[in-house]
Amino acid sequence: MQISQDSRTYYERMGGEAPLRQLVHRFYHHMNTLQEAGEIRAMHADNLSHAEDKLFMFLSGWMGGPSLYIERFGHPRLRMRHLPFSIDESARDQWMLCMKHALDDVVEDQPLREELLHALYGVADFMRNQ
Ligand code: HEM
Repeated sequence: MQISQDSRTYYERMGGEAPLRQLVHRFYHHMNTLQEAGEIRAMHADNLSHAEDKLFMFLSGWMGGPSLYIERFGHPRLRMRHLPFSIDESARDQWMLCMKHALDDVVEDQPLREELLHALYGVADFMRNQ
């Protein structure tokens, strides 16, 4: 993968808050509707709006925008927070599948899409605990 020379943050390149909200919204839409994501959908509460808010806040900081999650909840300790869920390669790949669809829906800039997919794969793989 070619790493872009663009020195702006992911958050800026994405276009800021509104597109990021849209990305997270599409992500949970796909988790909710893709049969292939059924296992990870089942790990979540019926109502996904809580998870959606938190992922939005987390990604805002992770992408170099406002650190909303940390301001509100402190250090994310994301791997520890995922320990109650059994996350294996299949769960990781389901998460990435939803994210790939969401990026395709929302981010027009193809190099940015690829960089985000690559970087998020690292985070998703780090969540693996099986
Ligand atoms: C690898 C597969 C993953 C699975 C199966 C998974 C699953 C889950 C589940 C079941 C929850 C609880 C949702 C709730 O409270 O209703 C959760 C919370 C969360 N996940 Fe994941 N997740 C994965 C990867 C990721 C990744 C890659 C990120 C970040 C880029 C992430 C960010 C978060 C955040 C910010 C929360 C909220 C934590 C909190 O309670 O404060 N997750 N995840």
